[in-house]
This record gives sequence, structure tokens and C-alpha cells, in this order.
Amino acid sequence: MALALAELSSDNLPGVIRLPPAPGEKSTVAPVAWSIAEAYVTPTAWPRAILDDDEVVGFVMANWDPDSEIEAFRGGIWRLNVADEAQGRGIGRFAVEQIAAEARRRGYDKITVLWEPGADGPEQFYLKVGFRITGELFGETVGELAV
Ligand SMILES: CC(C)(COP(=O)(O)OP(=O)(O)OC[C@H]1O[C@@H](n2cnc3c(N)ncnc32)[C@H](O)[C@@H]1OP(=O)(O)O)[C@@H](O)C(=O)NCCC(=O)NCCS
Repeated sequence: MALALAELSSDNLPGVIRLPPAPGEKSTVAPVAWSIAEAYVTPTAWPRAILDDDEVVGFVMANWDPDSEIEAFRGGIWRLNVADEAQGRGIGRFAVEQIAAEARRRGYDKITVLWEPGADGPEQFYLKVGFRITGELFGETVGELAV
């Protein structure tokens, strides 16, 4: 595997948009098209395609907003979607490590993520890659990772 994060481009956009869940599909996570629309109207959003060589295998969006009134929104992972067929190969972990590295470059000492609680959600993944649960916000679990 040759994993890398890439800015969104006309080349990788079709692959990014095809990642699950599809718009209209019942899911606890947002369709990537929705995330990209949010990024368009949110100057602090930091959306990236996750590539394996030239193939899109995922999408991650951070938010860097150090002045946010809500501490959990100051810096961290906003969205993370790995292609179904690419799950379980370390791509999610790679994305977290890359966001942690970007956070360090920006002077952060921790990143946060919010996830939907429940056995079928990403909680075990986030705990496995080092996040610890620090609370709850808007019905979601808040996790924090020192970087
Ligand atoms: C959650 C998600 C991002 C994980 O990505 P992934 O590429 O499959 O995860 P990785 O292969 O990097 O896994 C890293 C570790 O977490 C573990 N892990 C991943 N998903 C897990 C799960 N559902 N239950 C238990 N452990 C899990 C892996 O076994 C691995 O452990 P290891 O390092 O000891 O082998 C991916 O499953 C996904 O996109 N899910 C749907 C969307 C979603 O829930 N996004 C998060 C929204 S906040």
C-alpha cells in the first residue's frame, strides 16, 4: 500500500463521491457529498481524499478552528469514511495519524472526534487508535487524542 492524503481535485472527486454511504441511504454518518458541501461553506474545514497509489480508498475531513467557543470543535476529525472493500487494512488508522501530524504542525496538543454511540458505530476503532472518551455532546460521544 502507498497511502497518501490529497487535496480534492477533479481527478479524485468522482471516487470520493462514490464512497459510502450514498445520499439517501440510512446511515449514522453523512454522505461524502454532504461533507464536501459543508466544507464549501466552512472556511476552517480541511477535506482530503485518502489515496492508495491513485485509487481513492477513503475520505477524511478535519476542522481547524482554534477560536471555537466549543472546545470539542477547535481541532480534530469531523468526518471519516473508508471504502467498504478497503476497511480493516489500516486506512482509518493512517487517516488519524495524518490528522494528528497536521494538528502538531498547527500547534495543537490534542485532537477531538465525535461519534454516534452504539455497538455498530466506530467507537472500537477510535479507542483502538488511541482516543479516550472525555464526554458527550449533542448525543454523541466525544473522544480526545493527545498529539
Ligand atoms: C470506522 C472506520 C473509519 C475504520 O476504518 P478502517 O480502515 O476499517 O480501520 P483500520 O483498519 O485502520 O483499523 C484500525 C484498528 O481498529 C480496529 N477496528 C476497526 N474497526 C473496528 C470495529 N468496528 N470494531 C473493532 N475494532 C475495529 C482494527 O481491527 C484495527 O486494529 P489493529 O490495529 O489492532 O489491527 C471505517 O470502518 C468506516 O469508514 N466506517 C464507516 C464510517 C464511520 O463510521 N466513520 C466514522 C464516523 S465518526
